[in-house]
Amino acid sequence: MTKRIVLAMSGGSGAVYGIRLLERLLAADREVHLLISSAAEQVLRDELDLVVDQFEEHAFLNEVRDVLDGYGFRPQDATLAGKLIYHRIDDWSAGIASGSYRTAGMAICPCSMSTVAAIAHGLATNLIHRAADVHLKERRTLVLVPRETPLSAIQLENLHRCARAGAVVLPASPGWYHRPRTLADLVDFIVGRVLDHLGVQNALVSRWGEPSD
Ligand SMILES: Cc1cc2nc3c(=O)[nH]c(=O)nc-3n(C[C@H](O)[C@H](O)[C@H](O)COP(=O)(O)O)c2cc1C
Repeated sequence: MTKRIVLAMSGGSGAVYGIRLLERLLAADREVHLLISSAAEQVLRDELDLVVDQFEEHAFLNEVRDVLDGYGFRPQDATLAGKLIYHRIDDWSAGIASGSYRTAGMAICPCSMSTVAAIAHGLATNLIHRAADVHLKERRTLVLVPRETPLSAIQLENLHRCARAGAVVLPASPGWYHRPRTLADLVDFIVGRVLDHLGVQNALVSRWGEPSD
């Protein structure tokens, strides 16, 4: 079983969900293929003061840690065992553009309505859409974490099309039954559920009906 997971961030609000997910995937020793749309770069800057610009792994991961520290996330592992591979969204020669390149799944977190629309209609106009297309056609896990409210009929239809094609639609809509106290608790509720669907063991949320670890 490959450790490769594709993580794409598109320009929906809630960039912190994607950043926490990235850190947890690397902490879980996954090989993360990271994609960031240009709108997502803008959201990262607007919401978290995180500047991607010319991607440089060391600087980026330091910024990731600063963001997570600021939110007070626990746990945060000192060493991130996994491997980070960044792809520009116009790099059509990347392995993840092909179905023959094996992965354990893909998450788009957060996922904008425009990216949902592109996937729903098979418009592979950037590498995020293409990799999502590939995951659907290869019958692999594709988790979409949309963030929009309220939703128009067009957006609901597009989400429905994606779900019918096999995507897991997991809205950034945390539950409250675990009695969250902090923003980190709310974020981890969603990140924990995404990790569950990607088959990554985690104890980020207390599970209903199960004693906590
Ligand atoms: C700060 C900020 C927040 C945004 N929030 C959302 C959002 O929650 N949902 C959404 O669908 N689009 C949102 N947008 C708009 C998208 O980024 C825009 O539609 C863009 O075209 C998406 O492109 P992408 O899908 O290639 O990332 C936001 C944009 C900015 C700058």
